[in-house]
Amino acid sequence: MKKKYLLLFFVPIVFACQTNDIIIDPPAPENPLDKNVIVTFDKNIKPLLKITCSPCHFPGGGRANTWDNYSKTKNLITGIIERVEKDPANNAFMPKGGSPLTTNQVAILKKWIDDGLLEK
Ligand code: HEC
Repeated sequence: MKKKYLLLFFVPIVFACQTNDIIIDPPAPENPLDKNVIVTFDKNIKPLLKITCSPCHFPGGGRANTWDNYSKTKNLITGIIERVEKDPANNAFMPKGGSPLTTNQVAILKKWIDDGLLEK
């Protein structure tokens, strides 16, 4: 008799936990450097430059070349890569006054060219 009551108590808990597991299981994050993933402006480039080049190159930041603008960013991508690869001691180094981009961040910028400079 006691065992029966125990079952009545635990079985619903086990089921509840299983359903929760399915709901909270996060999707595997997409790696933009993966061969099968296409780097795009909206998905990868704009967010990356927003983190590394704000506020100067975003609206209100003072620079006419804003990296929220797809055509401007696309036309200047070679210059952007050239600037972020400069020695931080060089006057032309970008981000001005900031720390260098990581190897992966530079690789994502380069892969955008290889992947066809798509917007979306
Ligand atoms: C603190 C402000 C500041 C930040 C942050 C900054 N820049 Fe700039 N950037 C400037 C200024 C000022 C100039 C113009 C002087 C020059 O060319 O060095 C400039 C010029 C440039 C140019 C030449 C085209 C133009 O607009 O004149 C490029 C390309 C550039 N920056 C890329 C970047 C990139 C990429 C980042 C982020 C990784 C970045 N900058 C972050 C201030 C900034």
